[in-house]
This record gives sequence, C-alpha cells and structure tokens, in this order.
Amino acid sequence: MLELVVLISGAGSNLRALLDATLDAEYPARVVAIGADRDAEGLQLGEDYSIPTFTVPFSRFDSRAEWGRELAAQIRPWTPDLLVLSGLMRLLPPAVVSEFGPAIINTHPAYLPEFPGAHGVRDALAAGVTETGASVIKVDDGVDSGPILAQERVPVLPGDSASTLHDRIKPVERRLLIQTILDIANGTTDLKGTPSA
Ligand code: GRF
Repeated sequence: MLELVVLISGAGSNLRALLDATLDAEYPARVVAIGADRDAEGLQLGEDYSIPTFTVPFSRFDSRAEWGRELAAQIRPWTPDLLVLSGLMRLLPPAVVSEFGPAIINTHPAYLPEFPGAHGVRDALAAGVTETGASVIKVDDGVDSGPILAQERVPVLPGDSASTLHDRIKPVERRLLIQTILDIANGTTDLKGTPSA
C-alpha cells in the first residue's frame, strides 16, 4: 500500500479524483496527508475525507529555501512512499527534491516539454495550437523538466477559453495521475530509473 502525501495550491479537483480512487479497496495507495502552500480551497478535502492537512504559507517565509525547510519538516513525519504535486503552484527547493526524490511526481496541464510552467493552458491557447495535452512527470530540480511518466494529447477547440480548455484537460490529467500511481505501486513504473517500456 503506497502512502501518499499530496501537495496542492488550489481547488484540489485532481486530488478529489485521486481520493475517490483510493476509496476502492483494490487501489494500492492511500493519501495519508494533504499539504498546501497557502489557505487552499482544496484543504477542505481533508475534512471531507478525514485526512490530516498542513499548511506552510509561502508568504510567511523570507526565502524559498526557508519555506522548503518548513515544508520538508511537515512532510517528513508522514514518511511518504510518494510525494504527489497535484496543482502545487510552487517550485520545490532543491533540498526538498533531494530529500524526497526520486519519489516525487507532478501533474501538468500540457504535453511536456511543450508549455512548461505556471501557465501551460494559457500559453497553449496563446500559441494557437490545435492540440495540447496532460502530463505526469517525475519531479527534478527544473521547471516541469523531469522524466515523463505518462502523457496524452487533448484537442484545443475553436472558441476555447483557458477555462474551457483546462476543464477538458483536467479529466485526462486525473486519469493519468491515478494510473501512474497504480503503475508505481505495482512496479511497472520505476521512479529510480526511466519508466519501463
Ligand atoms: C491542474 O491542472 C494542475 O496540473 C495545475 O493546476 C490545476 C490544479 O487544479 N497545476 P486543481 O487544484 O487540482 O483543481
């Protein structure tokens, strides 16, 4: 049973989908704690699903490194098998990546390496592409630059706004996240190397 700590910054709709998957006794992972870098709406899921939460407000720290030290101190007691960034809108400091890596994955609403960073959906729309995608990657020290574990194309439709496009991407993101965690739990994806074929 993989024990997961999930970090969010927003509504947590991807986290909710993962929590619902873990309600199935057959699913080999469970969320043991939910963390956020701000007073995120998604923390309410901790109440709803009776899961402990913690908040390490980025704004309360003088540096990313200091924030990272407190974040690591809040994650460490849970001894997660896997740290899942699901809508965390912060870069993890290298010290956090090295402490919990390679068991850190992230979901991104674009077909990496296309459109990395905090505005992947808006950037795809602005670029006028006819398709974008969703990706799940292993987190390294870069910005959405780690090895790709799963990804799938999502069409951009005429008249799409950032929110209609993001709403089309998110269900794909959730399905890829849930499947990737399953693959990690059953060993078909090895985070220590590149994903097995
Ligand atoms: C997701 O698309 C995530 O990949 C991106 O922001 C969105 C978060 O959505 N970083 P939610 O908080 O899971 O609803």
